[in-house]
Amino acid sequence: MARESFGSGFGVLVAMAGSAVGLGNLWRFPYLVGTNGGAAFIIIYLAFVLLLALPIMYSEFIIGRRSQANVFGAYKVLAPNTKWCNVGLVYVLASLCIISFYCVVGGWTLDYFWKALTFQFSTPDTALLGNMFNSTVTSSTEPLVFMLLFLLVTALIVMAGIKDGIERYTKVMMPILFVIVIIVAIRSVTLPGAAAGFEFLFRPDFSKVTAKTLVDALGQAFFSLSIGCGTIMTYASYVNKKENIVGLSVETAVADTLFAIIAGLAIMPAVFAFGISPSEGPGLVFITLPYIFGQIPLGAFLAIMFFFMLFIAALTSSISQLEVIVSYLIEEFKLGRKVSILASMAVVVTFGVLCSLSQGLLSHIQILGNNIFDCFDKFSSNILLPVGGFFAVIFVGWKMKKPDFTDEITSGGVHPFKRWFLTYVYFSIKYLAPVVVAVVLVSGLI
Ligand code: TRP
Repeated sequence: MARESFGSGFGVLVAMAGSAVGLGNLWRFPYLVGTNGGAAFIIIYLAFVLLLALPIMYSEFIIGRRSQANVFGAYKVLAPNTKWCNVGLVYVLASLCIISFYCVVGGWTLDYFWKALTFQFSTPDTALLGNMFNSTVTSSTEPLVFMLLFLLVTALIVMAGIKDGIERYTKVMMPILFVIVIIVAIRSVTLPGAAAGFEFLFRPDFSKVTAKTLVDALGQAFFSLSIGCGTIMTYASYVNKKENIVGLSVETAVADTLFAIIAGLAIMPAVFAFGISPSEGPGLVFITLPYIFGQIPLGAFLAIMFFFMLFIAALTSSISQLEVIVSYLIEEFKLGRKVSILASMAVVVTFGVLCSLSQGLLSHIQILGNNIFDCFDKFSSNILLPVGGFFAVIFVGWKMKKPDFTDEITSGGVHPFKRWFLTYVYFSIKYLAPVVVAVVLVSGLI
């Protein structure tokens, strides 16, 4: 059977941007900015995207498209009879860990979408909304139901395949996402008192920067751009040999960063306008925003749009996480797509239930001061992803032959780049990215 592929270059871009733009931008980015001192964090984040994330994206792209195989198979094709294929297993594990907590938050977004539809945010009391969030996530039933629903939609899209599933749905969802975030941002920045939010987002205060800021920014760059666990590699394996690897990677990074900034503008000015502390943490989106929506004209309507947006943003990302695992099962175990999805879902649901219950019933289970949910999040974002990304650049920079690198990145000469640019890209893959990842990882662990 012929391998599946994307139908068009635009389809690849929306699928990649769909993977990148997600809860990382809307839920994680604002609270990391909030707890790490605002603009200084953003600047460090941008530096990581440029210096690190792009070389890793190119590398994943090169490995995936050249091999036209799943993450495990890719290393087998390009480095036969070596241990490299084990790196692919790290990616499958990382994807499993990520989707397992991601689907929990995905469930919360659906839950809150429902709450918005039924106008449950009209209370002028943040304490009540805090309680609402608390009782929602700590319940042993409600979040599980929404989590399963979220996974069901994810599975159905992945079931339909690359072109008729992932590409088709992200093409519709991504434009909606951008329109909604812009509408919410316009509302937020035009609130009286919004200026302080701007200042927080754009005036850097480097005195707040610590080693933790660096680790957080690094983890966020990996998480937000979906790098380090083979998502891009997997999508790239469905991309034809003519598409421009550099162009698609840069466009994805720009779309994701732009979206994060607009999301920051949608959230921070409103937070300041209402005198709320930006370091509210993970509750920012689920407590602070509903409060604000309850206070402003047309807020109920904005709330519906916002949580719908959160849901589709999460969905276009979760499908990319699932596809890594599913393509691995299909190709390495010769299973059908449906069976592969069912098998992955069995594991994801089990982990997901544990992550969800760790907010309440199982909150006493702590590892190094983190509940199960935070363990999945931190272990994958701050360790597995950087390690996975590290091996991708090492592979392209040190294992692959330079002519093969040049051939792939120029798409066999279809997209010739200036010599200095290729030299820079190669240098960034071979030296820059590995050194920076290693330094931040090691300093973070210490
Ligand atoms: N990037 C997505 C977000 O910002 C999440 C995501 C999708 C992801 N695929 C990934 C994160 C792979 C890490 C690895 O929400």
